[in-house]
Amino acid sequence: MSDLTFDPFDPAQTQNMWDLMVELRDRAPVSRPMPGFVYVARHADVKAVFRDAESYSSREGFRGANVTLPLEESFLGEVDPPLHTDLRVLLLQAFRPGLEKRAEAFTRAYVERLWDSIASAGGGELVAEFGLNIPPAVTGHILGIPPDDIEQVGRWGFELIHSTWPETNATERGVGIGGAFPEFAAFLDEQIQWRRGVSDPPDDIITRMTRAEADGHRLSDLQIRTLCANVLLASLSTTNLIGNLLHRFLTDRSFEESLRGRPELVPVAVEESLRLEPPVMFLFRTARIDTEICGEVIAKGERIILGIASGNRDERVYERSDEFLLNRVDPVEHLTFGPGPHLCLGNQVARMEARVALETAMERFQPGGLSTAPGFTLQRVPMFLEYGPERLDAIVQSSS
Ligand code: HEM
Repeated sequence: MSDLTFDPFDPAQTQNMWDLMVELRDRAPVSRPMPGFVYVARHADVKAVFRDAESYSSREGFRGANVTLPLEESFLGEVDPPLHTDLRVLLLQAFRPGLEKRAEAFTRAYVERLWDSIASAGGGELVAEFGLNIPPAVTGHILGIPPDDIEQVGRWGFELIHSTWPETNATERGVGIGGAFPEFAAFLDEQIQWRRGVSDPPDDIITRMTRAEADGHRLSDLQIRTLCANVLLASLSTTNLIGNLLHRFLTDRSFEESLRGRPELVPVAVEESLRLEPPVMFLFRTARIDTEICGEVIAKGERIILGIASGNRDERVYERSDEFLLNRVDPVEHLTFGPGPHLCLGNQVARMEARVALETAMERFQPGGLSTAPGFTLQRVPMFLEYGPERLDAIVQSSS
């Protein structure tokens, strides 16, 4: 099986292994790309592991070895049942259905302002000036961050994710979000305490977290602060989704023409992008017990790599699985939002942001009016589990 190995931590390999994935699905659906790591390639098996939080733990998540966090400072993705179930029940009281609909007017106005400034400059770098800005702004809005503070909160989120904190839970300033990012922590604490103190706080996620209650349990202030940071950081994957769709929109005229001819296909395009080019290509679990996947014995403690990107192109599930099709009819849901107890809480918000980005681009620019700058070549973000353009230099040819 030596010809089927790869380094899961090397983006040059993980972002370019589509042919290898075909081989893996066919010949080695459960393989060991390096000692201690098990790669799961087929849709059905990835889904089964996602759903089985009893056998496969999320706890090790993305933290380095020897980093253990108190429960109140753990992100949802780092907590296993039964505690995860309790937390999720509380958080679902804040993430009500229809959240994305209520956030759409804000998103549209915000995105239109970004397009205006790109149009008046005759173009721009669409990852830095567009895709990176939208997710923290929309997440800040749904959390209930005051409009004047949203940009600062986005900057804190960016600093946090690019610091040593994700791996070590610390920076040179201190430990935990409170020690490593004291200004961010103090800002969130103030938002929480203010809502607890007034009689009629705004109806937003932070307020709902202060009120959530199940079986007599409530979230502490520290837990709410942690979960605010969790939601903010989790939402940043949406940048890759927007970048992937805009790259296609700028470089494939037939894609743009199809969407302009039938705007009702925009949500289909978003779904197909999520399937074919998942912003997060794989995730990790750890076997809690000796078990078995697709007939392959898995030892307790082995790290499982959930091949989201591979499962999403499984030819057992999708016709012409390597192609971007706007008339796809396969009924099976892709794996991009993690089908299982940890299913992405922001999946509808992410879909809405991407849809609005495309719809407003078509409203703001003439057909063919937005294209890549001369000499542009696509580079992807240098992160082993991410898939999205690192930059997208665009020019506006003639704006309306
Ligand atoms: C295209 C963009 C996004 C992608 C690809 C994505 C992907 C995911 C995935 C795969 C998980 C499950 C992780 C696991 O099973 O270990 C997850 C969880 C989560 N996502 Fe997203 N996400 C996106 C956008 C968002 C947005 C916009 C928000 C919030 C507004 C958000 C909030 C969360 C939260 C809070 C969780 C933790 C759920 C739990 O562990 O119970 N995500 N996301």
